[in-house]
Amino acid sequence: MANRKPFIAGNWKMHKTCTESVETAKRLKEIGAGLTDIDIMIAPAFTSLYAVFDVLKGSNILLGAQNVFWKNEGAYTGEVSPVMLTSVGCIYAIIGHSERRSYFQESDELINQKIAAAARNGLIPVFCIGETEQERDADKTKNVLDKQLTKGLQDIALDDLKTLVVAYEPVWAIGTGKSATTEQAQDAHAFIRGKLNSILGSSMAEQIRILYGGSVKPGNIGELMKTPDIDGALVGGASLEADTFGEILKYRG
Ligand code: 13P
Repeated sequence: MANRKPFIAGNWKMHKTCTESVETAKRLKEIGAGLTDIDIMIAPAFTSLYAVFDVLKGSNILLGAQNVFWKNEGAYTGEVSPVMLTSVGCIYAIIGHSERRSYFQESDELINQKIAAAARNGLIPVFCIGETEQERDADKTKNVLDKQLTKGLQDIALDDLKTLVVAYEPVWAIGTGKSATTEQAQDAHAFIRGKLNSILGSSMAEQIRILYGGSVKPGNIGELMKTPDIDGALVGGASLEADTFGEILKYRG
């Protein structure tokens, strides 16, 4: 089996002022020191990115954005391009989060353009997929994951996807305190890896990290990480407080 390095990421969503972000990042930098056996990312709001980048310099915590536009520049009021994000130190960009799909009507086609633009510009996409509760109840989980993966990755050069990260975030588990069981999550992750195999080939599918997201906390990360296809976590609420996120980062004890 491929030796995939665990990856734990914090999505701060629309939380924290710039000052608050800097304070949390400072504490995380202390907590993360010496944790070299995992990759760590935090994704603050756009307004805090540069200040947090400055704090994280010299640490093993990398910076991510929560969204990105699909063009490098132009008359697109209010949008932020991949080039702008790399210029403030972003290594990753979360793309296709279910909150963007539902509140901002982001389609699979638009997400595909964002993934392509990010990857082309050297920004690593953290590509989010996941089914709603209604879709799971109707036994459509795998159809939904299949469609989101196929459309999201369509016509993107394999070379551009070498560093891709996928995040499986069942919508019903986000912010609800109701995490997927390890069996449900592993089952979805194995399906996703199989699908990546058919789209990108086996060596890439074995190498791509698939994160689980949805009510991850210090109490359930250890079990999730024991499964063969869960390579890390995308953490929302429990990433906002540095010491709690630190407990998740130190899930091995
Ligand atoms: P919670 O961890 O708050 O459920 O959020 C998960 C998420 O949406 C991360 O992107």
